[in-house]
Amino acid sequence: MNAPKKVIIDCDPGIDDALALMLALSSPELEILGITVVCGNVPAHMGAENALKVLKMMGRMDIPVFIGEQSPLVRTYVDAMDTHGDDGLGESHYPQVTEIRPSEGAVQFLARTLRDAAEAPDEKKISIIALGPMTNIASLIRQYPDSLAGLDELVSMGGSYKSHGNCSPVAEYNYWCDPHAAKEVYEAFSTLTGKQIHMVGLDVTREIVLTPNLLEYMQCLNPERGEFIRRITRFYFDFHWKQEGIIGCVINDPLAVAYFIDRTMCSGFSAHTEVETEGICLGQTVVDDHDFWKREKNSVILTKTDSMRFMKFFFTRVIGACEEQVLEGLMGRVMR
Ligand code: BDR
Ligand code: CA
Repeated sequence: MNAPKKVIIDCDPGIDDALALMLALSSPELEILGITVVCGNVPAHMGAENALKVLKMMGRMDIPVFIGEQSPLVRTYVDAMDTHGDDGLGESHYPQVTEIRPSEGAVQFLARTLRDAAEAPDEKKISIIALGPMTNIASLIRQYPDSLAGLDELVSMGGSYKSHGNCSPVAEYNYWCDPHAAKEVYEAFSTLTGKQIHMVGLDVTREIVLTPNLLEYMQCLNPERGEFIRRITRFYFDFHWKQEGIIGCVINDPLAVAYFIDRTMCSGFSAHTEVETEGICLGQTVVDDHDFWKREKNSVILTKTDSMRFMKFFFTRVIGACEEQVLEGLMGRVMR
């Protein structure tokens, strides 16, 4: 196997962020240098506490957690506790972790880590998997523009191309929460680095639905992790039923992690993308798929995924199911 890729996970845990962290922590392809937390689903301090709860459950308290930006660049902060519960983990109310504590200074941690990697060959540079609003990353670029020299790849869960929004008819929550940050980061990728943001948006994440059957199956195969997932997702299930009439819940963020590890998990195309910061389209990603603007292709827009493949990936890693159990369970019974 190749050397693990060095990553920082920037997130706002958040129920699906917690699942994404579990997946990342179960993946030997990743060396997680730190978890940076931004205000999003919940305030940054609460998100950091939740990241610690996941680390404790996974037995990985060696990974440092940093608290980042407490409010969006321009907009008034709007959390998503209606979706994620008053503790951000589906009102599971797991006890606070006291053995280790988060540090302040997420943006400084990002800057330092990227700066140290600036001279490194590409395979040793640092990638960021961004699972929340892009405020920490926009602040990084504003305060330390040179730090992108140490960046390998940026995968962002956010935005949508053809799919409808989840905060307005056109906007996805992470980019809607801080559209100015998202705009600045996409702009930076058009002008500063020549690299592309991998946009894992609602077009693909909407395909990833955790159902009651899958949850039951997880609990049978791995009672400890299954129980944790059941406790944190129950509230999410109720929300999806009331809001979208779905029995189950869309889990967005883990797909970004799966895609970072295995590029065949999603497919799409390169294009120039802009983010709207005003009016009724606030937070919308406008993807120039016909190249009208003749501008730098700053993004890879993911449009297709295979939910069965994703579930196999998740079950073998997070639940520790063997290939046969996954085939029998998912294909034979549970996903029918
Ligand atoms: C995104 O918004 C948050 O609520 C989720 O954690 C995910 O990152 C989906 O729109
Ligand atoms: Ca998130």
